[in-house]
Amino acid sequence: MCGIVGYAGEKSSAPILIKGLKALEYRGYDSAGLATVEQDNIEIVKSVGKVAVLEEETLKHNLKGITGIAHTRWATHGKPTTLNSHPHSDCTGDIVVVHNGIIENYKTLKEDLLSRNHKFISDTDTEVIAHLLEEKLNNVNDNLEDNFLKAVVEVTSILEGSYALGVLWKKVPNTIIGTRVKSPLVCGVGENENFLGSDISAFIEFTNKAIYLNDEDFIVIKKDEIKIYDKLLHEKYFNVIELDINAENSGKNGYEHYMLKEINEQPFTVRSTIEEVLKDINHAFGITKEELKNIKNIMMIGCGTAYHATMVAKYWIEEFCNIPCQAEYASEYKYRQVAMPDETLAIFVSQSGETADTVAALEKARAAGFKTVSICNVFASTLARMSDYTFYTKCGSEISVASTKAFTAQLAALFSLAVLIADAVGNISSDKKDELLNELAKLPVAIEAAVAQDKNITKLAEKYYKQSTFVFLGRNVNYPIALEGALKLKEITYLQAEGFPAGEIKHGPIALLNAEMPVISIMPGDKLFDKMVNACEEVMARGAKSIAITDEKGFKLLEGRVEEAVILPNVEEYLFPFLSVIALQIFAYRIAKLNNREIDQPRNLAKSVTVE
Ligand code: F6R
Repeated sequence: MCGIVGYAGEKSSAPILIKGLKALEYRGYDSAGLATVEQDNIEIVKSVGKVAVLEEETLKHNLKGITGIAHTRWATHGKPTTLNSHPHSDCTGDIVVVHNGIIENYKTLKEDLLSRNHKFISDTDTEVIAHLLEEKLNNVNDNLEDNFLKAVVEVTSILEGSYALGVLWKKVPNTIIGTRVKSPLVCGVGENENFLGSDISAFIEFTNKAIYLNDEDFIVIKKDEIKIYDKLLHEKYFNVIELDINAENSGKNGYEHYMLKEINEQPFTVRSTIEEVLKDINHAFGITKEELKNIKNIMMIGCGTAYHATMVAKYWIEEFCNIPCQAEYASEYKYRQVAMPDETLAIFVSQSGETADTVAALEKARAAGFKTVSICNVFASTLARMSDYTFYTKCGSEISVASTKAFTAQLAALFSLAVLIADAVGNISSDKKDELLNELAKLPVAIEAAVAQDKNITKLAEKYYKQSTFVFLGRNVNYPIALEGALKLKEITYLQAEGFPAGEIKHGPIALLNAEMPVISIMPGDKLFDKMVNACEEVMARGAKSIAITDEKGFKLLEGRVEEAVILPNVEEYLFPFLSVIALQIFAYRIAKLNNREIDQPRNLAKSVTVE
């Protein structure tokens, strides 16, 4: 949540900061702001709304500063107003701070500061940091840089919660100090210019060299010098990583929205992810077959869409491996008393690798001594760096807030991991292993056919986009897809959408149904097809509209017993989620478009949820 950018160089910083903010806008887009420092003048520009509004506002100010910090906000404390946007300053206006995270003890700190006559202008938790720094730096006139660093170290030592900070002080005009605890922060290393960012997209257009900061690192950034200290002010050695990425897929490539582009990329992203695994499945996840051999219990953890991927994988793991397996929301796992059996493998799934709940759950699993494997899309993200092993999905950047291609790539990785574990524990023969992996390898062709259903699905959306409630049903591996279909629809259309296991509707949810309500059932022609038909009959008996997401086999068996059908190719039944989810992604996209929604940046959301 919230994106931070910093620039120290020789060029005018404002346009570079704006570019960085645009790249980070997926982290929050309630409001934005920037501060630049030129000799002894700090100028701040802020605005409510998207970064484009800030850009226009900034042009009016002709900012010249060659050092600056900037922020795009997803509101936690205080409404999205200009006053609440970052950067925040102290009473003198000499110190400015941008912050991602939550300062949990800010109320007490603010009361203390108010009692010492500090004047606050915002409702944010962040503003206390600027005032606390003011108290440390107020009368400092020598050893300016050392004292600046010392002040940041001392102030952060009393903060509770999570933070990534960028700080400017007028008296040290060409220097940015950054630090982090439980919120991501990366430094970009350039030629006569250096950067700070919540992630590498903030500066990847300018440099592919990065330093990933650890919790309680303090970084001092100038145009030609970078130093990192620990909290005892000892200078630390650091690694500069050369990233094997560029800004290639940052555009929309002619698509109207990133979401549509990303839906259409899935034949390639799933293929690349499968190829990455199949190069050498025994070593693809880092963890060895020897380590997997004695696993007795599997925990899988994620949030939102990533959680739904773990739910699908639970069915695969229990079927192929015969090992008890749970899928759990990270936010629940963290705060409950969980059983911690020996020989547990904990698998974490996250597109961003920065989701605070998932990171917190990983900490708990590590503390329990579990082996941890993460499946992430973002290189060197916090989760990836904290896990024993990481597999990177091959999606390229996912920009649309609603996750699509990351989900199917996560499924590809999890399916392969399930097969690897099944092999390691000796629950499948090597022929069965080959058979399962061969079926997986054939998937991208079927995925192409699923993506090509856009026209048919658009017709369906045209019929139903004015409805206010949608119900999604599925069983077995397709039950999590019902949840994912509903999540996608509600996220980007703001319409009510509920997913249920089809067998459960008669136990309560059927009361929701009324005439005309679309009920979308995921029902390939598999062993549960007849059970799904029963659910459709129950739905139609209440006058609701029954829509089937089926395969060719299922369509033949349907014999017109539903109102509408989307027909996808036949694949092995355990692989149908790869196809059905794509149909539902397209359905959500088309309904959102017909309702004129902000598809790539839906209200109230942010792509990377770095607060608990
Ligand atoms: C839904 C969506 C969210 C994320 C969730 C976890 O479209 O994008 O539900 O899936 O916030 O994010 P990651 O995967 O980055 O941990």
